[in-house]
Amino acid sequence: MKETELRQLLNDLTLDEKIGQLVQLPGYFQNAGAVTGPAADMGLTEEDLRLAGSYLSIIGAEKIRKLQTEFMARHPHHIPLLFMADIINGYRTVFPIPLAQGCTFDPELVKQGAAIAAREAAAAGIHVTFSPMADLVWDARWGRVMESTGEDPYLNAQMAAAMVRGYQGDSLEEKGRIAACLKHFAGYGAAEGGRDYNTAELSVRTLREDHLPAYQAAVDAGCEVVMASFNTLDRIPSAANEWLLKEVLRKEMGFKGMVISDWNALEELLAHGIAADQKEAAFIALRAGVDMDMTSPIYIRNLKKLVEEGKVPEQWINESAWRVLRLKNRLGLFERPFRDADEGEEKAVLLSDGHRQAARECAEKSFVLLKNEDQMLPIRGDEAAFIGPYVDHPYLNGAWSIFADDQDTVTVRAALARHPRTRNVPTAPGCPISDPDQPVLGFQQPVAPDSCDPEEALKEAVDLAKKADKVVLCLGEHRECTGEAASRGDITLPKCQLRLLDEIARANKNIAVVLFGGRPLDIRPLKEKAKAILAAWLPGSEGGNAVVRTLLGESDPSGRLSMCFPWCVGQLPVHYNHLNTGRPFRGDYHAARFGSKYQDIPNEPLYPFGFGLSYTGFAYSSVKLSADSMTKKQRITASVTVTNTGSREGTETVQLYLHDLAASVARPVRQLKGFRKVKLEPGESREVAFVISEDMLRLYDLSMRFVSEPGEFEVFIGPDSATDNRARFTLLDEAR
Ligand code: NOJ
Repeated sequence: MKETELRQLLNDLTLDEKIGQLVQLPGYFQNAGAVTGPAADMGLTEEDLRLAGSYLSIIGAEKIRKLQTEFMARHPHHIPLLFMADIINGYRTVFPIPLAQGCTFDPELVKQGAAIAAREAAAAGIHVTFSPMADLVWDARWGRVMESTGEDPYLNAQMAAAMVRGYQGDSLEEKGRIAACLKHFAGYGAAEGGRDYNTAELSVRTLREDHLPAYQAAVDAGCEVVMASFNTLDRIPSAANEWLLKEVLRKEMGFKGMVISDWNALEELLAHGIAADQKEAAFIALRAGVDMDMTSPIYIRNLKKLVEEGKVPEQWINESAWRVLRLKNRLGLFERPFRDADEGEEKAVLLSDGHRQAARECAEKSFVLLKNEDQMLPIRGDEAAFIGPYVDHPYLNGAWSIFADDQDTVTVRAALARHPRTRNVPTAPGCPISDPDQPVLGFQQPVAPDSCDPEEALKEAVDLAKKADKVVLCLGEHRECTGEAASRGDITLPKCQLRLLDEIARANKNIAVVLFGGRPLDIRPLKEKAKAILAAWLPGSEGGNAVVRTLLGESDPSGRLSMCFPWCVGQLPVHYNHLNTGRPFRGDYHAARFGSKYQDIPNEPLYPFGFGLSYTGFAYSSVKLSADSMTKKQRITASVTVTNTGSREGTETVQLYLHDLAASVARPVRQLKGFRKVKLEPGESREVAFVISEDMLRLYDLSMRFVSEPGEFEVFIGPDSATDNRARFTLLDEAR
């Protein structure tokens, strides 16, 4: 529809119809056929349901086509509905969780995964996905770290942009594309204590420098929708934060699309103590810039009264309704109200061989080899016993894979049975996946405990371990222990799994652990007792195949940590790009007293950001700079030569970090500014060069200007964020 026609349509709408456009209702309201249950509890009428702008979580081509047809026929102006859903790491073909995708350090691969998710979701009738989540995460207690791509602003920015491009393609008119909804704006990843829905207390400088870049990258990549976060920032919930949504998001960051609240967040303004009643909540949220109210009764029940009383100018409603209509128009819904919803297409693309293969490739590239002593891995196959609750669990998808079917997941056991080299390996669960006294809470209800008898299972596993040359232990947290509302104050493995580890270690010293789960855990006991640890995260539909291929050496683990593994929970939040403090501590933490440190644990995480081994080895030359000084207009090339020192091909992720030694505000000890993946044959060397330009040296100065300051900088190039391979250069002061 032409913009003039769309304007005309907006002019023709009644106030009720315009307010209807600002409302998103939960899909289950459509199931009843009449206003009963939760819809009735919310005080909604048939008319409200008839005028709504959007529904969430309804899927399936047939259902959506039918609903859209009926809805448009009943709507006074035949305006199509917008169907949105959480397509996070795949629709039916499930990719590894986003945290694992971050570990690929491969934005192109991540883009491909998003494109496949879009293709499947589009066929099932979805128009918009609530992804990417670009929240920066420094606290592994927060269950939603699984949905982020990690602890680094630069990596997150690359990944958020890649996902937007994958979902939306070059144009929303292309077949198989859906619009992206960036979330949760802003700073939701800083939830205090890692407790979900909690307050975020961030300085504006930290917000701007660390948290905003990934959101900005998604906006620059053209994301159509932004979701306001649940948390407060500076004590203001995002859905009420006019500065955040209008000044920062729209004016500074240049976002032109639609803003939606998070689930029931407008109603929650009352609990926040920001609004005295629903009417005030409606006023505050609309004024702040929330265009669409997700699932609360606030807009639908209050905006009309507010306009009639002269408290809300109708112009505010018009502006928000315009943004909703504009999105519908950009999606082409006025001409193609079903878009790609097509049952035939669903059959052809959902879980297609090509999609499964891409999911497997992504999973393999996300695995991080944390330890590999005595060349425990790869295994031949026939020498190993596979033990642990994750050997046969189909729960390899993240908690957000709500539209996937666990029956479509290839478990480790199924993959072993299919592979000629492992067809006959013995397997045993060893213990339940979680402790019987710690029931796991699912999205809707408690997860049914495993049926295995703990003592019998343990005995069977120990007997197997005694007979095998090697034991592959498949351990990890239940997938429902991460995701929304799944924060934990203790991030150790379940007690029954630690007991299994102890008993197996007594029976067999050759243990390789495959670690599953949605967050970095406290894995000190694994580091102590296992010779090899492979972090496999929650690898998705093809998880079992990816794990088995990697263990057999058919795929080399090339993932690098997108989030560090903390030493223990007491260290959180922890991240490599911290400030130095006035008393930086290096040395023996038991001996010296007055440094910034703990008395009982190191400052450093167990495994740092960027870390990961390969089945081969890599050596780095020292860092070479093309010059030792530059003006703001000049550039310096920093390079290293990387050599594959092992006997098999491998892929290294070469990482560039910069550090400003003295500035007007304290600077992080180092910050990732570039990375390059290089595939090297045994013995092969390659020079890897990074161009350093002035924009990479910028900071928010005392006046909050984003500028570079002359002085000395350190350049680090190495395999991870702990590298000591460094050189120095000076940014010249041209005024002198
Ligand atoms: C609440 C979550 O915070 C958000 O990420 C999600 O997209 C919405 N619910 C919709 O399911």
